[in-house]
Amino acid sequence: MPLRAGRRKKAEAALASAAKPGIFWVPEMNALVVKDLHVTIAGQEIVRGLSLVVPRGEVHAIMGPNGSGKSTLAKVMAGHPDYEITAGKIAMDDQDLLELEPDERARLGLFLAFQYPSEVPGVTIANFLRAAVQARLPDGEELEATDFYARLYEKMELLGMDRSFTSRAVNEGFSGGEKKRTEILQLAMLEPKYAVLDETDSGLDIDALKTVAHGVNSLRGPDIGILLITHYQRILNYIVPDHVHVMVQGRIVRSGGKELALELEERGYDWARDGAAEPAFTR
Ligand SMILES: Nc1ncnc2c1ncn2[C@@H]1O[C@H](COP(=O)(O)OP(=O)(O)OP(=O)(O)O)[C@@H](O)[C@H]1O
Ligand SMILES: [Mg+2]
Repeated sequence: MPLRAGRRKKAEAALASAAKPGIFWVPEMNALVVKDLHVTIAGQEIVRGLSLVVPRGEVHAIMGPNGSGKSTLAKVMAGHPDYEITAGKIAMDDQDLLELEPDERARLGLFLAFQYPSEVPGVTIANFLRAAVQARLPDGEELEATDFYARLYEKMELLGMDRSFTSRAVNEGFSGGEKKRTEILQLAMLEPKYAVLDETDSGLDIDALKTVAHGVNSLRGPDIGILLITHYQRILNYIVPDHVHVMVQGRIVRSGGKELALELEERGYDWARDGAAEPAFTR
């Protein structure tokens, strides 16, 4: 397949670049690892040497101003075809993700909740989730309808979603908050090894925020690594992260514990950038 061959070539080039002298690649089992990632779109470098390790069992938050490249990072992890990876590596439990198609990444246990979830007209939530869950079963194994619906209703209850949603087309006509809940419903049903949640809090009223946070917290545990992308400290009161990273202009400029989010809220992004070990980049 020409597309696959092209991708492989790109991945090989990225790997070769990551292996250049001075940059050491230590494979990590049980972690989602981004190493010296550089991403370009429309001739502009958006991610500029970003490294990050999210082990299973931990919740990491990335905070950063508008346009700093947070969604770009999330989309590149999931395998969005529009972005060009010019250097670096992304691996999940030692598996090089860059050589895999988006569906292969998902089957291996990577999940992305989008900042702007797409509508899928004509496909009901029930059918969509059933197909997604079925696709992740080993060959020849059939999903039992009764088990599936029992689990679906349980998770919907957890997220405060009315059962009538199962027969609605995915995200079609959904309010902003309903779309975000639907993303978390997918997360709950798929039980991935790693979840990247892009601005799951945006557009949620305070009650919905608490419900969604409760849903995410109920999934926390030693088997899942969560990367939570957000602008605001608010959601981190409810989903308390193990580590917080500040991303400015395409790289992590500061990392710390949960208190870093509070400090950032108080002092702003300029403070994070100014005190960073890495030089700030001005476009
Ligand atoms: N398809 C594209 N074509 C051109 N520029 C793009 C494209 N996708 C992203 N960019 C640019 O890349 C930069 C980073 O965008 P990105 O969406 O990753 O930022 P973000 O940190 O998620 O911002 P926000 O907090 O507003 O969601 C922006 O300047 C954006 O305009
Ligand atoms: Mg974004």
